[in-house]
Amino acid sequence: MAITWRDDSRELHLHNGRVSLVLAVHENGWLGQLHVGAPLDPTASYRHLGPTDFRGFANRLDEPVGLAVPTAGSGDFRVPALVVEGADGSTVLDLVYRGHRIAAGKPGLDGLPSTYVEDPAEATTVGIDLADPIAGLLVTLSLTIFEDRPVIARSMRLVNEGDTGLIIRTAMSASLDLPDGAWDLLTLSGAWARERRPHRAALLPGRRSVGSLRGATGHGQDPSLFLLRPGTDEAHGEGLAISLVYSGNFLAEAEVGPRGPTRARIGLHPDGFAWTLEPGASFTTPEAVIAWSADGVGGLSDAFHGLFGERLARGAWRDRPRPVLLNSWEGVYFDFDHDRLVEMARGAVDLGVELFVLDDGWFGGRDDDTSSLGDWEVDRRKLPAGLGPLAADIEALGLRFGLWIEPEMVSPRSRLFEAHPDWAIGVPGRPRTESRQQLVLDLSRPEVVDHLETAIAAVLGSASISYVKWDMNRNITEPYGGALPPERQGEFFHRYLLGTYELWRRLTSRFPEVLFESCAGGGGRFDPGMLAFAPQAWTSDDTDAIERLAIQWGASHVYPLSSMGAHVSAVPNHQVGRITPLATRAAVAFFGVFGYELDPRALSGPERAEIRAQIAFYREHRELFQRGRFVRLRSPLGRDDGAWMVISPDRRGAIVAHVRILARPVPPPDRLRLRGLDPGLTYRVSPWPGPSAGDASDGVRRGGDVLMAAGLGLVPEDPPTGAPGGDFSSRIWVLSAD
Ligand code: DGJ
Repeated sequence: MAITWRDDSRELHLHNGRVSLVLAVHENGWLGQLHVGAPLDPTASYRHLGPTDFRGFANRLDEPVGLAVPTAGSGDFRVPALVVEGADGSTVLDLVYRGHRIAAGKPGLDGLPSTYVEDPAEATTVGIDLADPIAGLLVTLSLTIFEDRPVIARSMRLVNEGDTGLIIRTAMSASLDLPDGAWDLLTLSGAWARERRPHRAALLPGRRSVGSLRGATGHGQDPSLFLLRPGTDEAHGEGLAISLVYSGNFLAEAEVGPRGPTRARIGLHPDGFAWTLEPGASFTTPEAVIAWSADGVGGLSDAFHGLFGERLARGAWRDRPRPVLLNSWEGVYFDFDHDRLVEMARGAVDLGVELFVLDDGWFGGRDDDTSSLGDWEVDRRKLPAGLGPLAADIEALGLRFGLWIEPEMVSPRSRLFEAHPDWAIGVPGRPRTESRQQLVLDLSRPEVVDHLETAIAAVLGSASISYVKWDMNRNITEPYGGALPPERQGEFFHRYLLGTYELWRRLTSRFPEVLFESCAGGGGRFDPGMLAFAPQAWTSDDTDAIERLAIQWGASHVYPLSSMGAHVSAVPNHQVGRITPLATRAAVAFFGVFGYELDPRALSGPERAEIRAQIAFYREHRELFQRGRFVRLRSPLGRDDGAWMVISPDRRGAIVAHVRILARPVPPPDRLRLRGLDPGLTYRVSPWPGPSAGDASDGVRRGGDVLMAAGLGLVPEDPPTGAPGGDFSSRIWVLSAD
């Protein structure tokens, strides 16, 4: 068992040789946290890491004592993990250990997405009961350690054991106490079309937080925190990261307390949140995933990639090679008909594309974004024969067919809104704020979820549809649950998410063979919660190669390449107007789930030939791109270039890409040191597509040791790639062991 209980010292130790979490029951019954991070010997006691004469905080205000579930008002003045208001209006809690259960495996979470196991031997879970008899509250802290991963999953379940109602005001999924304040905080922050830029700064006394109050995780902040020692870099040094398996309002925060220790917490955002817990009722928090590594930021990313790709993503497509797709959006936007789409598909199949996706504009009377969301019936003006014959014509060309939907939304100009204006979120008597001319449906109401299940299932059953892009293009304003009583409005945002997850659950289980991709104006809801339903997400609406270099670099901190949709689009780029070489657009998009977002009919002959070669290359190396270990080599942020690589699990194959953002005169000598190769192997290093265009080069032979110690030559080139150079140029090398 990877969880050990010591009766003598009343310690619980979660251990697997890769990470340790040590908790202890103090004299007063409180559950303390003695250690989280580096793996420790499971046979030893770590009591000396905590207080020896602990009697509560009353006599020891501000002591840097670690607690598993810190509460407010009892002498620990740092941010709490749990605030519950009792019948008397007080939020003081005294959570005392009642018992625990250790079992193989990992149970699911009520109504919420979570990581899972396929075999109980993959993980061990402990449920620790903490109770406050005065409040009538039972808190079960659930902790799971995975066998071969440096990760621990954590959530809480609250039960009202009393006979009066309680109000949950704060219920964080994880709270971790670290012994000192010498940490840098790295968060992934941005905006629409420039999501997930890493920002790193030293913690200072006080609080630093990121979060969302939009009803979705949002483009602005990823629901994750990285705490890194100041010297930690991509490959070396200690780091601890927490990521939340949730898709709505969240708070992720680190606080350095007055005496220096750090508390990190993550969970549902307490602002605006209040959940009434009636006697006998329970509430489960979302799950937080805690990763620890001594191998730098890259080690933390490895931990997330493995867990999220293998035991958060699920369903038939989790492990299947993802098809190369062509999406109609940037190619034709709303301007298409049956014949035009079939012509596009004919062009796509000639390039080697495997899946044709019809984006927005196929339903209601939608010629622009001002109408029809909610009216999920095919627009017969554009598609007189309907979706079935369109899908059949496209499949007859040898492609699969995919479709865009945006189920959570309604246009004020729609039949659905006319019939059910009360289904749109809004406060009765107040105007509703429109965004992109649309409103959000109240998925906290079960009848709305039922309606959407029926409407979308009818669409998906009406044609041979292999793929669905589930979009969500605005955030929630005037939050108000139409079916909730006034005193329960603080539950609205979370209930919206529970309804949304329920809709995802029903549709993904009714259509298990469909590949779902989540999207929210690009990466506005690209989070671990969505990954549990859709194994891939549209990373950003920005398809410019240079912007994507930064966006994918940032997203890769948490998300595996198998989850990151990445497409080549036309130039001048539609978001930033930049003109980049076709080769560079592909060199960036290869590192994700690859596709195109353009009109094949507009391509020149040479462009078609180049794209054919790109798709053939991606398909040949698809396993490596989608399942290989991704290693960030050179950050493109604030630099003139960027580089990354993927490596096969057996380390016998790898692909390296370098992108020059701006070329400079008289560049100094420069070599790109690789990582993760086998130092004992010799690799054939072949530039792709080869020094003379179209020629596959046999390349040169280099040891893994020298490729990691000295690297590939960028200036001067070693081996030569034949790539033209200049602004926005790129180079790719394929490495294969002899
Ligand atoms: C936003 C998405 O991110 C785009 O890719 C596209 O699907 C549009 N919505 C369609 O409205």
